[in-house]
Amino acid sequence: MSNPTSNPSRNLNGKVAIVTGSSKGIGAGIAERLARDGASVVVNYARSEKEAAAVVARITAAGGKAVAVQADISRAEQIQPLVDATLRHFGRLDILVNNAGIYQLDSLDTITADSIARHFDLNVRGLTLMTQAAARVLPAGGVIVNISSGVAKSPSAQAHIYCATKGAVDILTRTFGAELGPRNIRVVGIAPGFVATDGNADSSEAYAAYFVPKTPLGRVGQPADIAAAVSFAVSGDAAWVTGCTIDVAGGLVF
Ligand SMILES: NC(=O)c1ccc[n+]([C@@H]2O[C@H](COP(=O)([O-])OP(=O)(O)OC[C@H]3O[C@@H](n4cnc5c(N)ncnc54)[C@H](OP(=O)(O)O)[C@@H]3O)[C@@H](O)[C@H]2O)c1
Repeated sequence: MSNPTSNPSRNLNGKVAIVTGSSKGIGAGIAERLARDGASVVVNYARSEKEAAAVVARITAAGGKAVAVQADISRAEQIQPLVDATLRHFGRLDILVNNAGIYQLDSLDTITADSIARHFDLNVRGLTLMTQAAARVLPAGGVIVNISSGVAKSPSAQAHIYCATKGAVDILTRTFGAELGPRNIRVVGIAPGFVATDGNADSSEAYAAYFVPKTPLGRVGQPADIAAAVSFAVSGDAAWVTGCTIDVAGGLVF
């Protein structure tokens, strides 16, 4: 019997990846890393066309292949067109990285029906419908990566709804992994600790002051730290990894 771990590879030549929400932050880092590994990458964005074009320009300047495709993942009707555009541009789909997500602080007092809907529409419903659309065309060997958060396992009373969405993401990583395993499609969660990104730039100093002392490795995470873990998760090195979520957090317990 052949050993599936005997030929590990980080070589993504010929593979095609969608990274949702990759005009900025962690998603941009993941898109650039997968392109550097050899994949053709669809840089998805909702609003930031210029930033998405800049990510594509950096990838192509480095010799990679990428295209920017607009689709608001929180809107169900915009999801299939993203997969269709990927097939039109690159002819196949091998890797989906469900990265697009929003986070807002809240308290029981400030939660609104609208804030619940906005978080769940993107972080949970969007991730689910993207996975459904991708799974319909992924071949054996395909990989789905869900970007979770450390708050799924150690939630904070300062962001009830965000934490709840990431808890749901971890459950979906397990259930999708179970359903897709027999097709040899893996589903892997990556749970970042605090990472300095565009999304938290306004308060990054305050966050750093709070999180760094709690982080055994003693620094703020960078998008490249998370991208390196995604590179592993989609590679042959992770051939026996599915249905679970890997902490990439410098040891931080939130
Ligand atoms: N930063 C952290 O410390 C941290 C920690 C743990 C987990 N995470 C998770 O990591 C992921 C990325 O976080 P980040 O800090 O990199 O975020 P970010 O800097 O705010 O960037 C968010 C990205 O998602 C896109 N996006 C937002 N809404 C979208 C939608 N409806 N449809 C498609 N794309 C959308 C944005 O594009 P547009 O501007 O074009 O809308 C942008 O490219 C999220 O899932 C987050 O929960 C982050």
